[in-house]
Amino acid sequence: MENNKSQCVKFYSGQEIPLELHKVRIVQKLNLIPIEERLKAIVEGGFNTFLLTTKTVFLDMLTDSGTNAMSDNQVSSMLRADDAYAGSQSYMRLEEAIMETFNCKYFLPVHQGRAAENIISQTFIKQGDVVPMNYHFTTTKAHIEINGGTIFEIYTDEALKVKSSHPFKGNLDIGKLKDIIKRYGADKVAYIRLEASTNLIGGQPFSIANMREVRKVATEHGIMIVLDASLIGENAYFIKQREAEFKNKSIKEVLHEMLSLVDVTYFSSRKVSSTRGGGICTNNEEIHKKMRDLVPLYEGFYTYGGMSIREVEAMAIGLIETLDESVISQSPSFIKYMVNELDKLGVPVVTPAGGLGVHIDAGQFLSHVPQKEYPAGALAAAYFLISGVRGMERGTISSVRDANGNDVLADVELLRLAMPRRVFTLSQVMYATDRLNWLYRNRELVGGLKFYEEPPVLRFFGGKLEPTSPWPAKLVAKFRADFGDSL
Ligand code: F0G
Repeated sequence: MENNKSQCVKFYSGQEIPLELHKVRIVQKLNLIPIEERLKAIVEGGFNTFLLTTKTVFLDMLTDSGTNAMSDNQVSSMLRADDAYAGSQSYMRLEEAIMETFNCKYFLPVHQGRAAENIISQTFIKQGDVVPMNYHFTTTKAHIEINGGTIFEIYTDEALKVKSSHPFKGNLDIGKLKDIIKRYGADKVAYIRLEASTNLIGGQPFSIANMREVRKVATEHGIMIVLDASLIGENAYFIKQREAEFKNKSIKEVLHEMLSLVDVTYFSSRKVSSTRGGGICTNNEEIHKKMRDLVPLYEGFYTYGGMSIREVEAMAIGLIETLDESVISQSPSFIKYMVNELDKLGVPVVTPAGGLGVHIDAGQFLSHVPQKEYPAGALAAAYFLISGVRGMERGTISSVRDANGNDVLADVELLRLAMPRRVFTLSQVMYATDRLNWLYRNRELVGGLKFYEEPPVLRFFGGKLEPTSPWPAKLVAKFRADFGDSL
């Protein structure tokens, strides 16, 4: 059920506390193991939080991808799945949900977001093309480059400032867009890509005013706009909160306005609707037909696209639930709470609070660790060690090497602490904040990392590293001195 009212509940005490507008009915036991065992786990995992097993993790803040909590309605919908290779009624329900959520006529289902990127890149990118965008995502960049394209990140000057009060740090710089079109010619621009709640720069949204300006330039030059809508619900929520024109609009109205300004929209439903899967939407039949044949080739038949039919059902319900402000606001309000607490404690955190998670500025947090020793990776490992909270490195380890084998240093070194929707309680968030505060007070004990096993592509997933000095043991000793026998 759509809900247009503001979800902000005011407390008599005046405190800003994010109130859970759901109840917890199924729970999963967590393990909080002693720090000595966590030390063993992080050593075995090559100081890479991707390589930890969940048995050793207390709060899993690695990602919100596929980890948001499902609703009772989603879980129960899975039981009525109409299992059929072709023409399933579950798929018909998904198409209806896509129409309602995104106001979009043509839809192609895929097994996850990067599968959509594969189809879009193969269809629209030719060798030597350029793709301007507000910021890249790892898998997006890899797909564009593998098809012969080059990306240009044309964010505004505000985007990479850690401390800021700019409401739309995800905006695209229109002046830089015009320059690229002039420099390369419109026919070399495969498309302009806009990423909602820009993942790698701290979950920061763009405004509809900015989208309209991009649309104007794109139409002038006959260029297509592709929207990565993996975090679109959160971006729509921020537009409602921060862009005066949309204050009294529903999330659905904001989404429809956003989708009306682009030519192609794709998403990872692992994020949008708390299920697996993904999809590509358009209202342009010609564009749809160009991509359509790749679905049975790479994904599966047109009416399941590599997803199980159960997931198709749950995705349909999840998309409709995205329109409910009490659902879509849950993660941003918890993020805002943790960001504000950390900010008060002086811990360097990206502001204003965005979507997806809390982003710590590891460059500043560990200013004594040189960037070539991966401060964001070191911080992720150290934080897991002292708390059992698993975050994700989003810095130079997530980058690549140049032709000479040197690291391409990331624009920002971030530790991302994802806040999957409706998964954590407030006391767990308080624990995560408390341990991070302790680590900040003891930051000089943390040192750098170096690779001893490094995959050539997307190295952050499987790469293994080791400390450049015996800093982990020192951290364990200080933890024991301060916390006694506490877990
Ligand atoms: N685009 C964005 C903006 C994403 O955040 C992701 C995934 C993808 C595309 C790819 O989607 O994983 O379903 O293939 N982000 C996850 C994350 C992995 O942890 O931020 P996918």
